[in-house]
Amino acid sequence: MDQGALLKEKVHEGFVVETIEDMNVEYLNALKQTLLIVGDTELLSVPPLLSVYDKAPTLNSKITALAVIQDEIGHAHIAYRLLADLGVDTKELLYHREPHKWKNPYAFDFRLTTWIEVGVFNAFFDRAGYTLLGDAYEHTSYGPWKRALVKVDKEELFHLRNGEIIMRTAMEDPEKREEVQRAVDWMFPMALEFFGVADELKSRSAQLDYKLKGRSNDELRQKWLSTAVPFCESIGVKVPAHYDEATGKYVLDFPFPCKFDVENRKWLFDQPDTWENVIARFKQRGPQNREFVQQIQAGALAMQALREEVV
Ligand SMILES: [Fe+2]
Ligand SMILES: [Fe+2]
Repeated sequence: MDQGALLKEKVHEGFVVETIEDMNVEYLNALKQTLLIVGDTELLSVPPLLSVYDKAPTLNSKITALAVIQDEIGHAHIAYRLLADLGVDTKELLYHREPHKWKNPYAFDFRLTTWIEVGVFNAFFDRAGYTLLGDAYEHTSYGPWKRALVKVDKEELFHLRNGEIIMRTAMEDPEKREEVQRAVDWMFPMALEFFGVADELKSRSAQLDYKLKGRSNDELRQKWLSTAVPFCESIGVKVPAHYDEATGKYVLDFPFPCKFDVENRKWLFDQPDTWENVIARFKQRGPQNREFVQQIQAGALAMQALREEVV
């Protein structure tokens, strides 16, 4: 049996990977790739939240939003710290990487426009984070990550509950109901895209083979739907998905994936798309990608320039 097959078998029998010596190159690369996506996702969730910070309706909501932002920076720090321990130059990654090379979800390349969108952002996207990281927390074979996720798991739950509170409160106000629905209409399919290509198109994944995560993309998408859809229904928000009694699964009421009108933030439900085109859209990045990455990098680069001036 080769080294890779042996390690795959060991982790599925419960072996916990602790150091680089426990890994083969394939495991190390899959782990680095996973942590990079996680770190970038956590950190780049901050600029969209900050983009509407001055629209916070109360001091209390401002404080809550700041707490969420602080948590996200902490989560990003955990992922980058784990990468640094694996020998990755995280300063280079953080402050000198081209914006289009960041691995955050497409949904985070958009400025938010209302406080209600912050609610839907937390209720949908943090729920996606909670689903993905909850799975890693439960299943991952990488010990240092599993231990760090204890804190992350609890905090993501707080974020998604905050989103639910904002949405529920807004739905109680007849004047705001339409605004909630508008935010849900563009953010619901975006959240579904978080989980990546359909299982039938992805024959194997090193992440699953080496048990960096436990569930497949479609299984995680189902898990997200199983809490997001009942919540939306309970507050009177319409979503393009329903529970199918016969199969015991949630079914989407639109072609997924489908085309997206970036300019108007509108899904074109009458225009089905391929995952190949969706990946191309992801790679092309959303409208605020450059601006948001520069926002993250600006302080460090200004400080560096100042130091060089002094020297
Ligand atoms: Fe987070
Ligand atoms: Fe979060």
